[in-house]
Amino acid sequence: STGARGTGELIEFTEVPVSSADTLVVPEGYVAQVLIPWGTPLSTSGPAWKKDASNTAEEQAVQIGMHHDGMKYFPLKSGASGSSKGLLVLNHEYVDPIMLTPDGATPMTPEKVAKGLAAHGVTVIEIREKKGVWAPADSEYNRRITGTTPVTFSGPVGPDHPALAANNPPMGTLNNCANGFTPWNTYLTCEENWNGTFGTTSTTWTPSATERRYGITAAGFNYNWHLVDPRFDVAVNPKELNRFGWVVEIDPFDPESTPVKRTALGRIKHESATFTEGSQGRAVIYTGDDENGDYFYKFVGSDSWRQLRQQRKSPLDHGTLYVAKFANDGSGTWVPLVFGQGALTAANGWTDQADVLLRTREAADAVGATKLDRPEWVTVHPETGEVYVTLTNGTQGATTGPDSPNPRPNNIYGHILRISEAGGDNGALTFEWDIAFFAGDPGYLPEGALVPPGQTLFGSPDGLYFDRDGRLWIETDISNSSQNLASRKYDRIGNNALLAADPATGVVRRFLTGPRGSEITGITQTPDSCNLFVNIQHPGETTTAWGTPTPANPRVVSNWPDFDPAGRPRPATVVIRKKDGGKIGT
Ligand code: FEO
Ligand code: CA
Ligand code: CA
Ligand code: CA
Repeated sequence: STGARGTGELIEFTEVPVSSADTLVVPEGYVAQVLIPWGTPLSTSGPAWKKDASNTAEEQAVQIGMHHDGMKYFPLKSGASGSSKGLLVLNHEYVDPIMLTPDGATPMTPEKVAKGLAAHGVTVIEIREKKGVWAPADSEYNRRITGTTPVTFSGPVGPDHPALAANNPPMGTLNNCANGFTPWNTYLTCEENWNGTFGTTSTTWTPSATERRYGITAAGFNYNWHLVDPRFDVAVNPKELNRFGWVVEIDPFDPESTPVKRTALGRIKHESATFTEGSQGRAVIYTGDDENGDYFYKFVGSDSWRQLRQQRKSPLDHGTLYVAKFANDGSGTWVPLVFGQGALTAANGWTDQADVLLRTREAADAVGATKLDRPEWVTVHPETGEVYVTLTNGTQGATTGPDSPNPRPNNIYGHILRISEAGGDNGALTFEWDIAFFAGDPGYLPEGALVPPGQTLFGSPDGLYFDRDGRLWIETDISNSSQNLASRKYDRIGNNALLAADPATGVVRRFLTGPRGSEITGITQTPDSCNLFVNIQHPGETTTAWGTPTPANPRVVSNWPDFDPAGRPRPATVVIRKKDGGKIGT
């Protein structure tokens, strides 16, 4: 294979069909291996997985967490052997309380909160390949970062900022969805749906304007941790909220290092922290805010990231956060979120830059940013520098109109936006945009309009990743209230999938289909492009498409990957190789 763009040969595998089966399917000529499912001990002497989910909180803290998400492979050696020995760093987005313990969500207990906190966060684990088979290794690097790991804050909202002062030292990262990484070999984890972790039973509590803007409610997402742990009671500990919604930097090569919340990147429901280099060597980080009607952001460093590091300064602490404003003529501008500039003045109630960052969403509202259909993952083309963003689904088009970046009034299927920065500089302040791909089923109108005839069916694009040759990998997250259901116009699209696309030709091909109820997320490769890692999140999550779960099997429309009748489904990483040892996608 040539790997060239525009030749039609970039994507050569034979696509897999739509699936509604409880299996993982990859193309002919490929093999998939399950690696590190939830509950796998971090060392061979660690506590073994118990299939009735009776592992304690203490055991969970030294096992692989739940609901694998964003992920990055860091080679441990240079050259060819770096593709058979590396650190896999991955997020654990949330816990399903029904799956986490033998008796499920009720009653809530301190032990269940502790286990939930231990199942969130990040895993660092060394993995090695021998004769085509990968396995975790006992390693000094192996580590879990959870909801109780000590953390610190850097940038304009420093560790001693009064908004953060609460009853305990700052700890933990939660709701770790998409991710990023830096050229100085650190991992970036993004805190997304943290608002749902909090709640209160106080009858006198009402949310502040900021809390309302971030979706804080008395019920939260019904985790009910606040019933037994005041840390998560918003009436008792409102400042704890300010400790979440950040991008967190982790050094996987220093197991003693403290994760740092990089506040200059803003406080939102972060999806992706995608690094690229702008002019003068400046760090540029793109990040979405996954909410229907929220915004797309980028951070641009003040100076060359190499220079800042030589001065022992973090390139992520020094720079400007911008939010995107899209014009319907295909142009756009990046608007700075800087105290004292534009609408963000003292006269308008803003106190300083920390205030702007703590209330990033309100600052973006104030400068008139463009509301989008749930901006999720971001990836940058390896040659052109063009930026691709998934808009997973939403309803903004009903107000922004057909020429806007949300052209569908009822966008149940999603699309992928493309941004070309002025002069090819990712640090530029103006851009042009278009829509690279529309997802959906053109057999259902009006929702399926704008999909090219004959395009491979997919819906709700979420994870997004350019490989080194410019293949665009698209991971889908059709919610379980829609998956496989005709009533939601999703019956012909099947289970969630991984697809490969060629932006130059518009070719899209389905590469992998997941087991029932699962989402496909997290994606990374070895440097030789011969091992592709993806995550299978929430297999078996309840959906009405396959009937009613039973008391013995509370979520079980799936039993992947163990297929143990007495067990339960387990989120896991899957590593995919080509039988002939070639590059993935060829
Ligand atoms: Fe965790 Fe926006 O998906
Ligand atoms: Ca996601
Ligand atoms: Ca999603
Ligand atoms: Ca998810």
